[in-house]
Amino acid sequence: MTSGQWSPATIVAVSLLCFSTLFTVYRTRSQRGNSSQRIPEVGEFLPLLTAWSFFAKRRDFLWENFKKTGAQIFRFRVLRHHVVAMKGLEARKMFFNEKALDLFEGVKIFSYTGPNMRDIDVAAAEQSNQFLMKQFANLVSKERLVDVLPAMLKDTDALMAQWGAEGTLDPFKELNDVVFQLIVRMGSCRELAEDRDVVSRMSVCLDNLEKNGTPIAHLLPWFPSPARRAIVRNNRALFELVKPFVEARRAATERTTDTIDLLLQAGFPLDNVVELVLGVINAGYVNTGMNVGWTAIFTGMHPEWKDKLAAEFQALLANHTENSSLPIHERLASIPLNVWEAELPVMDVVMRETLRMTMGILSLRRNLGADVSVGDKTIQTGEFLAYPMEDVHYDPEIYSDPHAFDPRRFDEGREEDKRAPLAFLAWGGGRHVCLGMRLAKLEVKLVLAMFFLTFEFQVVDAAGRVPKSLPRVDFNDLQRPRPQKGNPCYIKFKRLAKDN
Ligand code: HEM
Ligand SMILES: *[C@@H]1O[C@H](CO)[C@@H](O)[C@H](O)[C@H]1NC(C)=O
Ligand SMILES: *[C@@H]1O[C@H](CO)[C@@H](O)[C@H](O)[C@H]1NC(C)=O
Repeated sequence: MTSGQWSPATIVAVSLLCFSTLFTVYRTRSQRGNSSQRIPEVGEFLPLLTAWSFFAKRRDFLWENFKKTGAQIFRFRVLRHHVVAMKGLEARKMFFNEKALDLFEGVKIFSYTGPNMRDIDVAAAEQSNQFLMKQFANLVSKERLVDVLPAMLKDTDALMAQWGAEGTLDPFKELNDVVFQLIVRMGSCRELAEDRDVVSRMSVCLDNLEKNGTPIAHLLPWFPSPARRAIVRNNRALFELVKPFVEARRAATERTTDTIDLLLQAGFPLDNVVELVLGVINAGYVNTGMNVGWTAIFTGMHPEWKDKLAAEFQALLANHTENSSLPIHERLASIPLNVWEAELPVMDVVMRETLRMTMGILSLRRNLGADVSVGDKTIQTGEFLAYPMEDVHYDPEIYSDPHAFDPRRFDEGREEDKRAPLAFLAWGGGRHVCLGMRLAKLEVKLVLAMFFLTFEFQVVDAAGRVPKSLPRVDFNDLQRPRPQKGNPCYIKFKRLAKDN
């Protein structure tokens, strides 16, 4: 939390919040009958505290209450909204397959801290989510991946060149910055992607939006708290950074296959193009950046896997490229997409295991249809639903020794991810599968191939020593699977000799 949070303005806001929640309690209590299939209610008398803990320490809040109620499902309130938290197989099946449940409405209220043009009175796209998702699919089509692959490798090379011959880096910063560059490359246009200053300013704005997604900003969006003002300011800045590039593309005579051109050609007005570009960039970088960082850490701490992965990337170069006097990024650029996608089995299981361990996030929905049920419990129209993926990804009945990094668990014969329905949710499941999966997998592979083929590295702690234990993910973090605070990890790297 930022220090500005406890300003007098915040205290006033909190008091107002108390009042508004008191009224909410009164209203909603009179609505609920005493059915025998009641979902246990949590924090009925202290809804403000309940809502606050949900935003401040989301993961602990859920697990404490699953424990306290002894139930697989419980309900709590966030102001006038009802949220039903659930775990277990029945809940999971309903949550991911039920048609009435909407992902965007759920995320919008409870965890979205990305760019939001409504905050600055820019009319948001009017089109249906379905239409937007179809446009989205075009933007990440196979043809476009083939198209941008060489540019993404060139970007990666340019950023890694800035690291120098050796040093220590924060994988959740420097590696993340590389991924950010790639998604800007994919999600905007060449002119923007090649303007370093604009790219880094965008990244700062997005970080600021996330940092200011405080409980107060979530609970009282209308209240002019410092966090709220920062959100508006950064949204404005993002809009102003991207807009000139869209204007320039609109004025240009020749058309390219860059995202901005494709959106303009699809008929979106200028402001919407800006909004969609920011949406793609935000959706595209948060998890991908974290995944690259965690893969470096997990493999760095398991030499067997680090060596296997390095050998696989070396074989990739040897098997599929000829001219060894070219720079590595150019050699990699000549490898066809299908080889990247189908011929890196070690990378595939390493990524899958990294995702299992790091994607413990809370998935959110809102019931926009008629009542739905889990077992004998009913979730009413308008209610929100929350399912923590940690429930399945760390279930020892499904994944043996769940805190151990063990990509072999996916091997033929073990296939632990097939032990239960919807046991692997890191790319979503049922009705909501990640639309950027193909792009995300490619980006992770490109960045790691460049990293493994250019550097040797090891994981170190703040004192420069090999950490004693594997760092764990902070599932209380609202947005990203970052490492738990307290024992930060770094990557100590050294550039490999040229002809290695
Ligand atoms: C390692 C990287 C990524 C991971 C682990 C990931 C994971 C996920 C997950 C778990 C969901 C479903 C969420 C839920 O059920 O609540 C999802 C949805 C989505 N993702 Fe990703 N994602 C990644 C990268 C990307 C990228 C690069 C893009 C786009 C450029 C993207 C775009 C989307 C979109 C648009 C949806 C919504 C799909 C829908 O509503 O049905 N993701 N992603
Ligand atoms: C490279 O070729 C060897 C021998 O044919 C094969 O076993 C290996 O899977 C290939 N690796 C890659 C990454 O193409
Ligand atoms: C390999 O690349 C170098 C450097 O670009 C070039 O001079 C050389 O002609 C290339 N050789 C082949 C066989 O393509």
